[in-house]
Amino acid sequence: KVPPRLRKVLDSLIQHLHDFARENEITVDEWMAAVELLNECGRMSDDKRNEGQLLCDVLGLESLVDEITYKMVTEANDLPTATAILGPFWRKDAPKRQMGDSIVMNKIEDGDHTFMYGQVTDYTTGEPIEGAELDVWHTAPNGLYEQQDPDQPDMNLRGRFTTGKDGKFWFYCLRPTSYPIPFDGPAGRMIQLMDRHPYRPAHIHFIIKAPGYKPLVTQIFDRRDKYVTNDSVFAVKDSLIVDFLPRNGDPKAEFELPYDFKLASF
Ligand code: DHB
Ligand code: FE
Repeated sequence: KVPPRLRKVLDSLIQHLHDFARENEITVDEWMAAVELLNECGRMSDDKRNEGQLLCDVLGLESLVDEITYKMVTEANDLPTATAILGPFWRKDAPKRQMGDSIVMNKIEDGDHTFMYGQVTDYTTGEPIEGAELDVWHTAPNGLYEQQDPDQPDMNLRGRFTTGKDGKFWFYCLRPTSYPIPFDGPAGRMIQLMDRHPYRPAHIHFIIKAPGYKPLVTQIFDRRDKYVTNDSVFAVKDSLIVDFLPRNGDPKAEFELPYDFKLASF
């Protein structure tokens, strides 16, 4: 028995694909080029490379479904923290770390060390959330995530932190860098065909999970980055743009970044 939602979505998909082909008079050769492109995405992908997702992202699809999903969970006025796309570089089982630890595992001379801190709260009551897990990841100053770069230690610039009673978190990371999405594959060719640049504004990713609350998948973006208004995968939302502040008297960090996360319960 086909679930009704699946039946509806599949019927609609077929209808739109057929309309698309008719409207554009797609030929056999053109369709075969598209099939080859999809196959190539599959061949390139493994647990370190997610070309299918990258392709969706340059087409704006992940950002669109993120927006649709977020609209469905939010009511007016006092909103939970906005969501943003997961992107292709999350890894499961990032190391669990203690509050105050650094996610920077290698010696970085050219990076801007940053102390990030804040609180996880319930967006309706404002109460702190205990036992919230923050899963965080970002790129190295060379613009590469750890799994793209053989010179970085495994799980570098990733970590999971769990809040105590007061819902607070604090850790060291880097002020991230803007960088091009990988464009040595079909997604990159697509971007070039459309005459677009491949850059993403500097960002830090988060997944925040707490018992009884909807998981929050999001990113925060550095306001100084020139790509903040021109993200190649359309993920920026105003409320996710942050200011890195100068930090005084801390030999471990030149910048600090306060940011709070507000979760919605189920
Ligand atoms: C994409 C997302 C990212 O967070 C990133 O670092 C690179 C690419 C993407 O959506 O394709
Ligand atoms: Fe990213």
